[in-house]
Amino acid sequence: PRTIFSGIQPTGVPHLGNYLGALRQWVTLQDGAPRNTSLVYSLVDLHAITVRQDPKQLRQWKKESLAMLLAIGLDPNKSIIFHQSDVPAHAELMWILSCQASTGYLGRMTQWKDKTANEKDSSEKLKLGLFSYPVLQAADILVHRATHVPVGHDQAQHLEFAREVANGFNHTFGRDVLIPPETMISPARRVMSLRDPMAKMSKSHPDPNSRILLADSEETIRRKIKAAVTDSVDGITYDPEDRPGVSNLIDILYHCDAHPAYPSQDELAKDLAGLSMRALKDRVAETVQTTIKHIRASYAHFLNENDDLDKVAAQGAEKAAKSAATTMKAVKSAVGLI
Ligand code: TYM
Repeated sequence: PRTIFSGIQPTGVPHLGNYLGALRQWVTLQDGAPRNTSLVYSLVDLHAITVRQDPKQLRQWKKESLAMLLAIGLDPNKSIIFHQSDVPAHAELMWILSCQASTGYLGRMTQWKDKTANEKDSSEKLKLGLFSYPVLQAADILVHRATHVPVGHDQAQHLEFAREVANGFNHTFGRDVLIPPETMISPARRVMSLRDPMAKMSKSHPDPNSRILLADSEETIRRKIKAAVTDSVDGITYDPEDRPGVSNLIDILYHCDAHPAYPSQDELAKDLAGLSMRALKDRVAETVQTTIKHIRASYAHFLNENDDLDKVAAQGAEKAAKSAATTMKAVKSAVGLI
């Protein structure tokens, strides 16, 4: 039997990178799942507070993110959908795992190094929660005995850490209590920012034009893609190294709908070679709009169904708690806590 687990931080409306890199796969896995597969998807609100959040804003974001998971096509009758903080076992397993996790390994994690690069000399300001972020992520996955974790490329290192923690725990306690999970990186592994194509598209970048949100109107999508940073080289070619802006647009086109009609981005680019930059952008905007317009409509619907959202969250939490209970019993027994 397979168990799929993945998570997303409820820190705003998800963007096209989240969708192509992860969320779309969650739905594909759900819809194509054989009978003996469990699917568990979490809004990881405890991860969201590893950086300062406004409480009112966070509450609203949690609601919007849940509505969005339903809007993209996750079905609470097929997938367990829940807020991480509703299931205390995640935090509880995290504590037990942090008694195994190496601080040396955690200190080498890219996300930690990136987020703290500017505060190197002020360890007073660096928060323990941010440092131990990957331990909580490992607990999310391991507590549900996940076999497969669909994510974008930026999570690969965290997944490797989760396997390391699982293997270390099993080794220490001499039993196969935890299951080291497999990483499933989606084909759209890294969608880049529209304003800075050397950086990944992210929810936290200060420039809202750097990302397309799944709730953006057609007009907004067009405007943002029109403003995307490209270059002044004639013609269209796929060359992520030297032409990152154009190549990101080709990637988006490819992952939105050209695949599998074209075997690769290179082949797609050959058919686009004669287009002007403007024509390419029109085509990309059109394709993105077609890919996400059904999501926007359905999101608007779910956002107004407060009672339904509460019900989905409550039922999801109940099922997730059950899924976690088996592991907690085995872990506590292995450690000697029970
Ligand atoms: P988060 O909330 O940053 O992103 C959610 C998912 O979207 C993917 N993603 C991208 N993929 C391609 N291109 C991009 N520009 C892009 N930006 C984001 C991410 O890879 C991710 O799959 N730490 C995780 C949340 C988490 C989690 C977990 C994931 C907590 N526990 C357990 C998997 C399993 C995060 O911050 O994702």
